[in-house]
Amino acid sequence: MLNQIKTLELTVLTKVTHIKDEETLIQYRNDILGKAGELTTILKWLKDLSPEERGTVGKAANETRDIITDAFEAERKRIKKEFIAQKLETEQEDVTVPFSHTKGSLHPITMVQQEVEDTFTRMGFDIYDAMEVTTEYLNFDAVNVPKTHPARDMQDTFWLEGSGHVLATQTSCMQNLIMKNKSTPIKAIIPGRVFRNEDVDATHDNTFYQVEWIVVDKWIGISHLKFTITTMLSDIFGKEVKIRMRPGYFPFVEPGVEVDFSCPFCDGVGCKICKGSGWIEFMGAGLIHPNVIREGGLDPEIYSGFAFGFGLNRLVMIRYGIPDMRYFMSPDVRFLKQF
Ligand code: DAH
Repeated sequence: MLNQIKTLELTVLTKVTHIKDEETLIQYRNDILGKAGELTTILKWLKDLSPEERGTVGKAANETRDIITDAFEAERKRIKKEFIAQKLETEQEDVTVPFSHTKGSLHPITMVQQEVEDTFTRMGFDIYDAMEVTTEYLNFDAVNVPKTHPARDMQDTFWLEGSGHVLATQTSCMQNLIMKNKSTPIKAIIPGRVFRNEDVDATHDNTFYQVEWIVVDKWIGISHLKFTITTMLSDIFGKEVKIRMRPGYFPFVEPGVEVDFSCPFCDGVGCKICKGSGWIEFMGAGLIHPNVIREGGLDPEIYSGFAFGFGLNRLVMIRYGIPDMRYFMSPDVRFLKQF
C-alpha cells in the first residue's frame, strides 16, 4: 500500500506541472483529493489494516496528502500568473485613443454666450462672471430698488435666511460692484445664472441665464446704447438687424426703454416666430439712473452711462427655434445632441 501511495504522489507531482488552465487543475484536484478521490479512497482503507501497518501507512498517506495539496496550490498560482502575463501580452489597450463616439458638445447657451463674449471682447469690453449668491443690497438697494419699492415684487427671489444674502435675480446686481472697483471708462458685459421664485412653464424657469451690459463714462447717451445693441444682434443673427425702442419702466434706468428688434427670419415682413408683427420684443435698457451712478461712488453730474440686459435663454430659443425653455435644464441627450 505504501508503494501505491508513493506512486500516486509521483504521478500527481508530474502531471500537475503540465496542466495549463485553472479549470482542469480543479477537476484533477477533485479526482485525487475530493470525496471520492484516489487518495481519499486509499485513506478509507486504513481502518482495515493492522494497528502497526496503520501507523506507518497512515503517516505516509498524510504526508503525501500535504505534499499534493501544496503542489496543487503552487500550480494554481503558476497558472494564474501565466494567465495575467498572457493577457498583458495580447490585450494591450491604447488609453490615448479618444472615445470619439461619446464625444460631448457645448450646451447651446454656452455657445451663444461665447459668441456674445467674442464680439464684445473685440470691442474692448471686460467680461465679469455674475455672482449667483449676492446680497440684498447689491441685487436691490444698489440698483435703486429700496425695501419698500413695489419693483421688488417683480423679482421674487430665494432668501438665505438671516444672512442678508439672496440668490441673484438679475445680472444687474453686478453694476454697483463694478462701478466701485473699476476706474472709468467702464465697458463691461456680465453673463451669469440667475434665479427667481417662478411658476415653471414653457417660457418661464426658476433658473435661467442673463447677460448685462454697462458702459459708464463722460457724455454717454442713448445713441451709444442704440449702436451697441444693434451691433450685438446683427452679429448674433449674421445679418443687419434694426431695433426700435418703446418707453419702459426699470428702476435702475432713466429714461428706461423696452427694445424690440426686426425679425431676422422674415426681415420684418411677419412670420410665425414674430407672430406676424415683424418685430421681436426682447430686452430692457436705458440710461443708468443718477441714483445708481451715485451709489456706485461716481458723480452723476459728470458721469453718465447706459445699461441693458436680457435673458440668454430667450435669445437661444429664438435663434434655434426651441419651443420650450425647460429643455435647457433637462439632461435629455436627444436635445443636446442637436447642437
Ligand atoms: N435686470 C432686468 C431684468 O432682469 C433687465 C434689465 C432691464 C437690465 C433694463 C438693464 C436695464 O440693465 O437697463 O428684468
